[in-house]
Amino acid sequence: MLLKMDMTGAGAGKKHIMTALGREVEVNADYTVDQGWESYTAEEHDRWDRLFARQVALLEGRAAPAFMSGLEKLKLSDGGIPDFRALSERLKALTGWTVVAVPDLVPEDVFFDHLANRRFPAGNFIRPERQLDYLEEPDVFHDVFGHVPMLAHPNFANYMEAYGKGGQRAANLGVLDHLARLYWYTVEFGLVNTDEGLRIYGAGIVSSKGESVFALESPSPNRVHFDLERVMTTDYRIDDYQQTYFVIDGFRELLAATLQDFGPVYERVKAAPTLAIDAVLETDKVYTHGTQEHAARVA
Ligand code: PHE
Ligand code: CO
Repeated sequence: MLLKMDMTGAGAGKKHIMTALGREVEVNADYTVDQGWESYTAEEHDRWDRLFARQVALLEGRAAPAFMSGLEKLKLSDGGIPDFRALSERLKALTGWTVVAVPDLVPEDVFFDHLANRRFPAGNFIRPERQLDYLEEPDVFHDVFGHVPMLAHPNFANYMEAYGKGGQRAANLGVLDHLARLYWYTVEFGLVNTDEGLRIYGAGIVSSKGESVFALESPSPNRVHFDLERVMTTDYRIDDYQQTYFVIDGFRELLAATLQDFGPVYERVKAAPTLAIDAVLETDKVYTHGTQEHAARVA
């Protein structure tokens, strides 16, 4: 029924938007677009393959087992930029998630609505050759290689859905900045304890050539155990490697810590002072008290 209504009249429910990258595109009401898989050039598929090979070589022994097993289960190494249709089918069979294409960043409320419904919005463009190592906007490599493997893990999949629902609530309560820090320090830049030592699972780390080594091996950043309220009061940077990483014991711990009602938590963190990106507290369980030499270097 709904589908039929949307189809009547060309472009019904569609709108023109200017993306964060300044591109003008037509999107659906929920900001999704067709991935346009047929339009990728051979050069773009090859760029994906090179990025993929480079990261996989770094991630053996560095990425969390859950991430590596997600890569494998989803057959992301098949070669070329994944077709979201086939990828979604595999992912849906594992955890009920699908991957939908978006031109780039989507408005916060739209993003939360996708997550709350187990849809992961992924950028459909691939970074240009001259920005192979670093770009600020999430492209298909960051979003699919970085984020999607973890969505094959049941506890993490549940966490992401809960985050979407929690985001809708946080927006209404005016505490999005606090909740966003939780996303940043887990989904994007999280570390996890394993029997073999610390491993990375955050998408911002696993999709980055430099940070996948830095996050684990550099003496520069702090590494401290995850604490919900500590994380929610800690600033972060978007322009360089993190100065503090938070370590979880596993995805069950993460889910358990976030299942509680955040109402009282928000009241406390709103009243608490914001902590500097490099702060180390007496109450922290510290793995590494970083030298911060990276942040202090003269650029
Ligand atoms: N438990 C949170 C709340 O009550 C929701 C949430 C779950 C937020 C998981 C983030 C991650 O709002
Ligand atoms: Co991301």
